[in-house]
Order: sequence, then structure tokens, then C-alpha cells
Amino acid sequence: MFLPILFVLSFLFSSSNAADFCVGDLNGPQGPAGYSCKKEAVLTVNDFVYSGLASTGNTSNLIKAAVTPAFDAQFPGVNGLGISLARLDLAVGGVIPMHTHPGASELLVVIQGTICAGFISSANKVYFKSLNKGEIMVFPRGLLHFQINSGKTQALAFVSFSSPSPGLQILDFALFADDLPTDIIQETTFLDVAQIKKLKGVLGGTG
Ligand SMILES: *[C@@H]1O[C@H](CO)[C@@H](O)[C@H](O)[C@H]1NC(C)=O
Repeated sequence: MFLPILFVLSFLFSSSNAADFCVGDLNGPQGPAGYSCKKEAVLTVNDFVYSGLASTGNTSNLIKAAVTPAFDAQFPGVNGLGISLARLDLAVGGVIPMHTHPGASELLVVIQGTICAGFISSANKVYFKSLNKGEIMVFPRGLLHFQINSGKTQALAFVSFSSPSPGLQILDFALFADDLPTDIIQETTFLDVAQIKKLKGVLGGTG
């Protein structure tokens, strides 16, 4: 009589734990809802800790900036929780070029330096401001936005997202870093062919 009840109770308690979180199993496939869950029995505190944002990103590149993500693919602990984080390092003159995150709104907090950040609404109204240490700005989901180091020192910011996999599409890379034919870019953007060829050269595009 009691044993079946105990069994049912223990089942209820163990299955309620499963709803607390869903640490992603990166060996499985990633669907629209994220990764499947690792079994709780194999988890440790380290599944909920990520050290990858502790060190400065390498800014020796074209944009003089580094984005270090802690999305579900890097930090499976955020899988299923609707949040994630990334680190932005911007050397002097560094820029995170115009881009969108199709899957998430973004909240930026400046930790060091001065960052000019902005976004453009779908009504084509422009919102941008120079932000100092401790200031935050929100970028609504899906809108084109950017960050520029507008100061004279290295800048550091963290950005949080309303999704464990916010997605990222950089406008210039979408246009000039692939094999979209120059004449189609010219027809669809009204840019000069010379400018398109130049940017394809810089960003490694063809066509
Ligand atoms: C940073 O990246 C550049 C270009 O890829 C590379 O040459 C350099 O060794 C890297 N620096 C460090 C500290 O990893």
C-alpha cells in the first residue's frame, strides 16, 4: 500500500527536478528549442559555471574588436533558460559592425571605456549615444545595431541576451563576405560596383 505511494512520490520529486533546468547536451542535435537535456545525475556545479569570458578577447583584427560568446553552444548551462551573455572587447578605434540578433533583445553594460552604441528602428529612426562606465543600453530584438569604441582607451562591455542562442548576422559580412554576385548587390543596394568590389576584397567575398 505505502510502497506504490512512495514510488509515485519519488517519481514526482525526481521529475520536478528535471523542469528546473536543461543543461544542453552538445553531443545531441540542436533544434529550435535548443539542445536536449543532460541527465541531472551527471551534472556538477561546473555545468553552471563558464570561465570563457574571464580573459580579454583578441582584438588584432579588421574590426579591432572581439566578441566572446557564452551562448548555449559555449555554455550549455543556459540552454532552455532564455538568457545568455557575451563579452565585448574593443581596442581604440574598434567597432562591432552593424548587425542584428534575430532571436533576442540585448542589454549592454559598459565596464570600462566609452562606447558609442545605437540601433535603428524599423521606422528608420536612429537611436545612439556615447555610454560611459556603468551605463546600460537596450537593443530591441531583431533591429540593426552597432557599438564603437568612441574613447581613447580600450573598452570593455558585457551584453546579455533574452535567448541562449540569439543568432548573429553582420550586415557587411552578409553582403560582402560571400558569393552574392556584384551586380545583384549593386541592383539591390544602389552601391557603386567599385565600392562593392573593394569590400568583397577586404572581407573575402567572391563574385
Ligand atoms: C591575435 O590574433 C592575431 C591575428 O589572428 C594573431 O596573429 C595573434 O597571435 C593573436 N594574439 C594572441 C595573443 O592570441
